[in-house]
Amino acid sequence: MNLDPLTRTYVSYSTPSLDDVPVVEAISESGAEAKVTKMVTVGSREELDVSRDVSNNTTGVTQPLQLQHFVVVAIDIGTTYSGYAFCFTRDLDSNIHMMRKWEGGDPGLNNQKTPTTLLLTPSGEFHSFGFAARDYFHDLDLQEAKKWLYFDKFKMALHHNQDLNRNTELKAANGQPVSALTVFAHALRHLKRYALLELSDQTGSNVAVEDVRWVVTVPAIWKQPAKQFMREAAYQAGLCEPGWPENLLIALEPEVASICCRKLRLNQLVPERPIEQTELKIRRTSSSTLNLPLEPTGNNLVLEDSREGTRYMVVDCGGGTVDITVHELSECNGTLRELHKATGGPWGSMGVDYEFERLLEDIFDTEFMDQFKLKRPAAYVELLLSFEARKRSASPHRDSSFNIFPPFAFIDYYRKSKGKEIEQAVKKYGRKDITWSTQGMLRLQPKVMMELFRPMLDKIIQVC
Ligand SMILES: Nc1ncnc2c1ncn2[C@@H]1O[C@H](COP(=O)(O)OP(=O)(O)OP(=O)(O)O)[C@@H](O)[C@H]1O
Ligand SMILES: [Mg+2]
Repeated sequence: MNLDPLTRTYVSYSTPSLDDVPVVEAISESGAEAKVTKMVTVGSREELDVSRDVSNNTTGVTQPLQLQHFVVVAIDIGTTYSGYAFCFTRDLDSNIHMMRKWEGGDPGLNNQKTPTTLLLTPSGEFHSFGFAARDYFHDLDLQEAKKWLYFDKFKMALHHNQDLNRNTELKAANGQPVSALTVFAHALRHLKRYALLELSDQTGSNVAVEDVRWVVTVPAIWKQPAKQFMREAAYQAGLCEPGWPENLLIALEPEVASICCRKLRLNQLVPERPIEQTELKIRRTSSSTLNLPLEPTGNNLVLEDSREGTRYMVVDCGGGTVDITVHELSECNGTLRELHKATGGPWGSMGVDYEFERLLEDIFDTEFMDQFKLKRPAAYVELLLSFEARKRSASPHRDSSFNIFPPFAFIDYYRKSKGKEIEQAVKKYGRKDITWSTQGMLRLQPKVMMELFRPMLDKIIQVC
């Protein structure tokens, strides 16, 4: 999460750590005004304002909940990464807990979520999700792999699909179509299972699905039928019964991001460029920047504490899409006013990976890269992961080079198929800012990294 004090813009390339963020209660399904839903305890039951829940059209009607739930679990299926977070209702001002880390995380990358990858067996049964699915699939023998149904970044395939519905299909890596509803239901079921396991471990009791109020996020541009699609996928996944739609809330991703930012503490915000000593003094003595009461001890302050009328723009840069929202804190505590219709497009961080892949094709030639991807899929994933770590350390203010360690299989495959060394190809490419080090790394100067970000950045800047 980056904060530009001049433009008052928060830029988040990845989900910030929520471990210390106070709870976000629940978010409405509206596009016009993000209203924090209130929970009122009535006797032993809780009632919930579900004023804009589409499924039952109960605008403004207070609905009784099926059971008293003691925890809220939110599931986010992202284009590149997915995860869940939870908080206990008895403790609404307490922390949001991010999902626990599961086995199989990528070394060198601090991931709080798991990749959005799903693997079904050749007969269509669920096999695995996340790191496990990705690694198992890429380790399969090539012929065997063609029989399995593997889905990677499947949410992006729906981005341009205006009429996503229960008949929509997604193509597995082997080209076989599978119902999109089934794919999302598997993903939700998997995350539900892990959330319940984690909650049961934490509380020392058996937490059941109906103990939970579930929240599932969807992109802002998804239309009503697409939201209904997600609701049906959640029903299939067993998140709640169709007879008790109030137990499931569909929330818009940028609204959730906005509310999350409102709850961030100042010490969780990273300035866009290194703060210089003099600047720091100014910021600390001034209360005008961002309308926030900045004081030397103000690190624990949250944006929400700022005065009414504060406006802020959230640019949520995900893997697939960038969502931009501008909100204003309104007089009535707990509400946000949307100043502009949520906007954005498919300019997420995957576009930077794409540029890197194009660069590799330019250096080592497209045919070779295609063959390598086809014949050594696990090593190809590793190659992209070695770039991922460097991409995450990119900054416009960095002046040291980015060293990418390609896996040995890449170096070896090049040598065997081309009969020459990688170093020769890099030299022949002839750019001084792209070199091969004797220690076996591809070295990119900051300018090159900037070029890889440029196409996406230009598109984001255009709409901001
Ligand atoms: N510091 C960084 N600089 C650039 N990209 C980053 C950085 N940190 C993470 N990323 C990228 O952000 C993406 C993950 O972000 P996030 O989890 O918010 O996306 P998502 O939820 O999967 O996607 P979407 O919200 O578009 O569906 C990955 O593509 C990752 O490479
Ligand atoms: Mg996301």
